[in-house]
Amino acid sequence: MVTTRAPGRVNLIGEHTDYNGGLCLPFAIPLATTAAVSTRPDDLVVVTSDGAGRWQGTLEEISSRAVTGWPAYVAGVIWSLQESGWAVPGLDITLESTVPLGAGLSSSAALECAVGVAIATLLDRPLDDPLRRFLAEACRRAEADYVRAPTGGLDQLASLLGAEEHAVLVDFEDPAAPRAERVPLPLCTAGLAILITDTGVRHELADGDGGYAQRRAECEAAAAALGVPSLRGASLDDVERLPEVAGLAHRARARHVVTENARVEESVDALADADWAALGSLMAASHASLRHDFQVTVPEVDLAVDAAHEGGALGARMTGGGFGGCTIALVSTAEGGAGGVAKVRDSIDSAFAAAGHPRPTHHLVHP
Ligand code: ADP
Ligand code: GAL
Repeated sequence: MVTTRAPGRVNLIGEHTDYNGGLCLPFAIPLATTAAVSTRPDDLVVVTSDGAGRWQGTLEEISSRAVTGWPAYVAGVIWSLQESGWAVPGLDITLESTVPLGAGLSSSAALECAVGVAIATLLDRPLDDPLRRFLAEACRRAEADYVRAPTGGLDQLASLLGAEEHAVLVDFEDPAAPRAERVPLPLCTAGLAILITDTGVRHELADGDGGYAQRRAECEAAAAALGVPSLRGASLDDVERLPEVAGLAHRARARHVVTENARVEESVDALADADWAALGSLMAASHASLRHDFQVTVPEVDLAVDAAHEGGALGARMTGGGFGGCTIALVSTAEGGAGGVAKVRDSIDSAFAAAGHPRPTHHLVHP
């Protein structure tokens, strides 16, 4: 039996860029999924999840891509590894998770990566850097081609490459071979932390799960109208031409992607200079772009971000795919004062109470 643990993630900045050949800057968080996995002598896969229940099926069922619902995330990883030529045996899998499901903190990637690493370990594959990158891609394929959730690859790379006090800078210019490197994010040393606020709004309820795919299609249409393979190849001047060739919504979506890529680059510079105020401003600008141009926020998410700023946070924004889920705020861990954890948290809680929304859940995290 092996026991593995894979983290969820927040994205510091660089949202809805991964599937557009762009840049993003996620980091792994202490909320994580644990997988206890042992081999079985038969061809069954038996999965028990503390958050979802129990499922069992055969390896054949899995390879014929017949599995749906939450077990598809496990089946998808097994299928993806089988497609890469791995001889995956029957398995008993027990999952426990502290990542809230469907909140935009990548519970799905945490599950996939925990299972992927466990299988690799059972098959005696050393968990070195190339294997981590291989597993990130295998898990991305599980989600895209088995679960059929058309997501990009940032979540799995963040989970597998994240390290203490580091973010992971990913460049998806070549989607088949994303370049990922660790960038120091010394929040602890700087007396700072990220306050995650789970608004409690779940994306499948907020958008019926269609909004993400629609945004993706709009970005692809904008790139096609400009004659570039992805929006990575577009400039702001190109984007201004879009209303004639595509439509106003396409121009706004493309503007978000182009400006967001620039904000990731500026954030990396701000981190190198330990300029936390600049990073905070970039987070705020990212949120405004996601709210007005990309239009993937909901009122509760906007409220949490506005209230975090009113409480003195250096910066705040939505994180993840949007349509509900979580916000992040860059806060001080010093006692009391504007911008401190307590002030920002209270400001968000008061705003939610005043608007009649249920009290949100907070997690204070370091990378
Ligand atoms: P996120 O990854 O941001 O939490 P997703 O909608 O992409 O949101 O993935 C959530 C889905 O992943 C859940 O609805 C469930 O199907 C599956 N999932 C994630 N973690 C677990 C778990 N520990 N046990 C069972 N299913 C899980
Ligand atoms: C997530 C998705 C990622 C990324 C993100 C938006 O839900 O899994 O791949 O696209 O949304 O930046």
